[in-house]
Amino acid sequence: MDFTLVTGGAGFIGSHLVEELLARGRRVVVIDDLSTGKRENLPQNQNLTFIEGSITDAELLKHLFSEYRFSTVFHLAAVASVHRSVEEPLYCHRVNFDGTLYLLEESKRVGVKKFVFASSAAVYGDLPQLPKREDMAVKPQTPYAVDKYASERYTVNSFNLYGFDATALRFFNVYGERQDPSSPYSGVISIFIDRIKRFKRGEETTIDIYGDGRQTRDFVYVKDVVGALLLAEEGKTAGEVYNVGTGKETSLLELLETLKEIVGELPPLRFLPPRPGDIKRSVADISKISSIGYYPKFPLKEGLKRLWEWSVKT
Ligand SMILES: NC(=O)c1ccc[n+]([C@@H]2O[C@H](COP(=O)([O-])OP(=O)(O)OC[C@H]3O[C@@H](n4cnc5c(N)ncnc54)[C@H](O)[C@@H]3O)[C@@H](O)[C@H]2O)c1
Repeated sequence: MDFTLVTGGAGFIGSHLVEELLARGRRVVVIDDLSTGKRENLPQNQNLTFIEGSITDAELLKHLFSEYRFSTVFHLAAVASVHRSVEEPLYCHRVNFDGTLYLLEESKRVGVKKFVFASSAAVYGDLPQLPKREDMAVKPQTPYAVDKYASERYTVNSFNLYGFDATALRFFNVYGERQDPSSPYSGVISIFIDRIKRFKRGEETTIDIYGDGRQTRDFVYVKDVVGALLLAEEGKTAGEVYNVGTGKETSLLELLETLKEIVGELPPLRFLPPRPGDIKRSVADISKISSIGYYPKFPLKEGLKRLWEWSVKT
């Protein structure tokens, strides 16, 4: 039986993907340097092999690709913090761009059947047209977004140039269990949930909003993202780029209203000056990925409810 490689499999989204692959009886290899991921995000399972190492280690990758026969590579490993990419562009470029290129080269060398790359809605930047469609202009504005865009192009061009079956997915704002709330630049939902938990424990805390709270995002539940990754693997998606969102635009104030319906009283809101570079509005057009069978199964309230129930248990 062939193996499936998940880079960044100990991270937030990667660990959900691994869980689903194992549930489907697949044999999975994870490579992760545990820089933000955690070993405990992954289950103990005889079909799972965990390799602690970096995707920038070309020798290690060569060895790995020679030792296992990978049919699919899901490439999710990245420095996922936009802020860190601004602070440390060289380091992030090594991981977010060079790492992708090493993986593409190895995948082509050994004849991997499908390569799926986790890109980001950040590639669209702050161009005003909405909803974002894959054929629209992009304006990547941070090292993170530039490296995602370049990696995305290398990925899909692999099909046009070498006939290699590779595809890229532009994730919008993913939320769900195991997302790390520890930095102010983490996913906003994980931070809000963390503050609500503290508040419920009696700690003095606030929910901080940068700007007026009317900025919008397309919040997509992690299990829907896993669904999209698997559809991209199965479908005729070679050389294509797909948005992964819900197609629904939600402001932070609306998000907080929905959270209130689930958890009851919220901590006091504190409005702070907008953060430079923050995009005002974002929402995906999901008609392209719908054409390969994707539809978001978890409306925001349902996803938030699951996340809240999980978070009070942990
Ligand atoms: N969470 C989102 O909303 C979102 C949105 C758009 C795109 N993405 C992309 O999805 C992917 C997964 O993101 P996430 O939210 O799960 O973040 P995450 O930080 O939880 O996961 C990234 C994983 O990659 C690992 N990693 C980092 N550098 C590595 C290296 N050099 N070698 C091996 N492993 C390394 C980390 O330890 C971590 O486990 C990333 O590529 C990210 O850019 C995420």
